[in-house]
Amino acid sequence: MRVVALLMAAGRGERLGGAEPKQFLPLLGRPVLRHAAEALLRDGAVEAIQPICAEAERGRVDSILEGLPALPAVAGGATRQASVLAGLEALAGCAPEIVLVHDAARPVVPAGTVTALLRALERAEGAIPAQPVADTLKRVEDGTVLHTVPREALYRAQTPQGFRFPLLLALHRAAPEGATDDASLLEAAGRPVRLVPGSESNVKITHPGDLERVEADILPRLL
Ligand code: CTP
Ligand code: MG
Repeated sequence: MRVVALLMAAGRGERLGGAEPKQFLPLLGRPVLRHAAEALLRDGAVEAIQPICAEAERGRVDSILEGLPALPAVAGGATRQASVLAGLEALAGCAPEIVLVHDAARPVVPAGTVTALLRALERAEGAIPAQPVADTLKRVEDGTVLHTVPREALYRAQTPQGFRFPLLLALHRAAPEGATDDASLLEAAGRPVRLVPGSESNVKITHPGDLERVEADILPRLL
C-alpha cells in the first residue's frame, strides 16, 4: 500500500465532558469518527485507514468503520504521541510510502485537502493544512497587554498531516514526550514541512457546543 491514514481515536474527550469520548458521539446520526474516516477517503487516494483507540473500544471501532477499507483497530497510549507511535508500529510491517495522521475528532476534511497534501509530499517530507490567524494577537502578562504580536506569519495547524512513512516512524521512535503534533517532530529535526490550505470547516470537536455548531452550520453547507 502506498498511502495509509492513521485515525486517532484513543483520547478521552475530557474538555468536552460528554457521556462518552467525543469521537463516538452522534453527528447527523452517525459517530463523529465515521464522518472523519469517510472524509479521509473522499479524495480516493487513501488506500486504508488504521484506527487507534482504547483497548476496550477496539471491537466497537471496527464495527463503526464496517464497509470502509479499515484495518483492525489497535490500542493507543496515554498521550496522543504514544497513540500515534502505536499506530505507526502497527503499519511497520506493510511499510506504506506515505502516512496521514488525522484526529478522529475532526469530522470535516474538505474535499481536495488530501490531494493537496499528497501533491506537496512529492517534493517534501511533511505537509500540513493550516489556516492564517484572523484575530489580533496580544502578548499578555498579569492581565495587562504587553504588545501586539504581528500575525502575518502565524498559522493554525490542522489535520490530516502527511509524511513520508519511514521518516515519521524513525522520528517518533526517537522522540521525547511532549510533542503537540506530528509535524513538530520534523521541525525539531530540521526537515521542511510544507503548508497546504486549511479550512474553517475543519473543526476539531473540543468544547461543549462544537458538535452542535458543526451539525447546524458546517455540515449542511457541505452536503
Ligand atoms: N488521541 C489519541 N490518544 C490519546 C489522546 C488523544 O488518539 N492518548 C486522539 C483523540 O482521540 C483525538 C485527537 O487525538 O481524536 C486529538 O486530541 P484531543 O482533541 O486532545 O482529544 P482528547 O484527548 O480526546 O480530548 P481532551 O484533550 O479534551 O481530553
Ligand atoms: Mg487531548
